Parts: sequence; C-alpha cells; structure tokens
Amino acid sequence: MSIETQISGISVKVYSTSSDASEAVANEITQEITTRDHCVLGLATGGTPVGCYQRLVEQHRNSGLSFADVTTFNLDEYIGLAADHPQSYRAFMQTQLFDHVDVRRERTWIPNGVAEDVSLECTTYESRIREAGGIDLQLLGLGHNGHIAFNEPGSPLESRTRQVELTPETIQKNARFFADDESVPRHAITMGIATILEARRIVMLVTGSSKAAAVSAMVEGPVGVECPASLLRNHPRVQLIVDEAAAGKLDVS
Ligand code: PGA
Repeated sequence: MSIETQISGISVKVYSTSSDASEAVANEITQEITTRDHCVLGLATGGTPVGCYQRLVEQHRNSGLSFADVTTFNLDEYIGLAADHPQSYRAFMQTQLFDHVDVRRERTWIPNGVAEDVSLECTTYESRIREAGGIDLQLLGLGHNGHIAFNEPGSPLESRTRQVELTPETIQKNARFFADDESVPRHAITMGIATILEARRIVMLVTGSSKAAAVSAMVEGPVGVECPASLLRNHPRVQLIVDEAAAGKLDVS
C-alpha cells in the first residue's frame, strides 16, 4: 500500500515500511533495465540502498533480471581508500550487488580514490559518463544535512565531479562503518550537483524518522544550495520514495 502525491514538482510515494519502499525502488530500476537497451544506472552507497540491492539480487536469481547490458556509475568514493579496502565504496558495491549479478566489472565505474591525479580522475569520470550516453536513472540517498552524494550544503548548482572535504557531521555519521571517527577519510571524489541533475530521471530513497526533517527541507523548504537536495526541484523527473517514518509530517493528503 502506498500513497502518491506531488509536492513542489516532485512525485512523492509513501510506503508503510522501509522494506516496501526499497522494493518499490528496486522495481523502478528493474523496469529501467528491462525497457532500455544499454541502460546506464547511477548508483549510491550507504545504509539506505542495501535493501534495494538485495531485491535486485533476488530478481536476478529468481526472475532472470540481467545486468549483462548495464553500465553503472557510482556517485562517489573516499579519497585514500583503494578498491580492495573493505570500507571503500567499490568494496561496498561488490559485496552488496556486483558480486551477485551478471554485471560486467569493466562496465561498473566508481571514482578511483587512490588516483595519483585526482583532478584528472574527476574530468575523466565526467567524460566516461558522457561517452556512455549519460545516466538514464540515478539512484540517490539523502543525508541528514540535505546532502546528495558528497555534495554538502553550500555546494554550487553548477558543480561537477570533484574533490570535496566532508563535513564533521558526515564524518561522524559515516564513522559507524569504520573502527572509529579517526579512520574516516576526510576527503572524497563526488559527482557534482550539475552531474546529478543531468540524469534523465532520478529516484531518491529515504527511510527512517531521523531523515524526516531532511525530507521536509528538501520538498517544503526554500530551493537553494544550503539544502543540496532541494536543487532536485529544478529537475523534471524526480521520484522521492519514502517510508512513513521518513515522510514525517509531510502533507500527503
Ligand atoms: P545513509 O546515507 O543511506 O547511510 O543514511 C545517505 C546519504 O548520506 O546520502
């Protein structure tokens, strides 16, 4: 059961549980893969998409969903973590999705966190996305402070893939994946806001009551760089899929 509405030009779907919301997002991705030749997906890491990736793995195993013709671009990677570091986003993607489906490794792109020339890595990443024909569907999570990928508050609308410094809040939130705060990298490579806004469609998944304020700021607050997610309201095709806890007091009547 879901409630569907439009708020500030964004299609909002509210599901009772995070599991139902994750399944709905997985279904959007499946539909994109099965209806489009050479589908290009933008993928996200973090706690939120784990359930969605589990559903995609199940659909691959049980319903024959194939990733053989899919190209993926992840949003971001920590600077200083090599692909085989257990906390790298490359390792996350391998463990959560790529190792369990038939995607071709050479078609899965994640910024190289140990590139010698970070600025060249960033411009090359942008070129690769363009050469692949652009992103058909970009999956996003939402940070408590309104960040999308590692575009923290204040990130410019025209920003592209680049090196950024993480905020103390993001470092502290991500410390749960590391031994302690000190082990969390201070910098990352992230797609920019302009890069994300070029995706043909965007599907954002948000779950849990701790994100309700961020969801409200995104769709009900002012549009501006202080809440990077609010900038998605400039995009013509955004779906926000949330559970009731993350919907909080949104007016979905
Ligand atoms: P989370 O992160 O899924 O771990 O909450 C989301 C984000 O910061 O974009």
